[in-house]
Amino acid sequence: MQSDPRHFALVPAAGSGARMGAALPKQYLPLLGKPLIHHALAALCAAPGIERVFVVLSVDDAEWARHDWRGLGPRLAPLFRGGPTRADSVLAGLRAISGEVSATDWVLVHDAARPCLARWHIEKLMRELAHDDVGGLLATPVADTLKRADEHARVTATVGRDRLWRAQTPQMFRYAMLRRALENARGVTDEAGAIEAAGLRPRLVEGDAANLKVTWPFDAHLAEWILRHRGESGGEEEKTP
Ligand code: C5P
Repeated sequence: MQSDPRHFALVPAAGSGARMGAALPKQYLPLLGKPLIHHALAALCAAPGIERVFVVLSVDDAEWARHDWRGLGPRLAPLFRGGPTRADSVLAGLRAISGEVSATDWVLVHDAARPCLARWHIEKLMRELAHDDVGGLLATPVADTLKRADEHARVTATVGRDRLWRAQTPQMFRYAMLRRALENARGVTDEAGAIEAAGLRPRLVEGDAANLKVTWPFDAHLAEWILRHRGESGGEEEKTP
């Protein structure tokens, strides 16, 4: 009989973070006194049920070794394998762990740039997808009305927000299915995009806006506020409908 699938985390962290306009790659910018990436890694390393947390760093990353990661425990494993795009980095990471992971094990791919990942986000994703044939991702329904613009910032169309979602991470798929999809997909910006290109339909699991991606300098202030106030306002807990 086949044993239960295990769960692994893979964190692509080989980007340069050019939009932040900082000297350091964004994953190492200080956030509450720690490198930004530390916060997401801490959440994943503390999650019950995740066997190992692999971090994909750029081949010439000199910053990782300047920090002390021992507090995150023995499940953390850096891989100096990053590629030119996020998808390349994820695929390189998947290839590097082939000896440790079985075809049907789950892989949770999470952006280093999402530091406010909470325990309930991880648990809800794992719980809701446990028996899913495809897998899926955390996401939030779009609340704003969306506009498409021309090159002069003039509105050319209003895009109906009905059934539109904002994709987040973690995105959770079976190891072999995800690897195959990424080997075959070109130009995708997330794992779900590769799975969709393979003709499958990932499940959307509702998270919340706290799991934001730090892209612009303002996002880092917002992330600090969220992490600092977590627990005070029930922010660490799942909303009840
Ligand atoms: O640039 P963006 O915010 O979309 O990057 C999302 C995540 O992908 C970040 O954690 C970044 O470090 C990672 N990435 C990567 N390899 C690249 C580009 C981005 O691992 N070549």
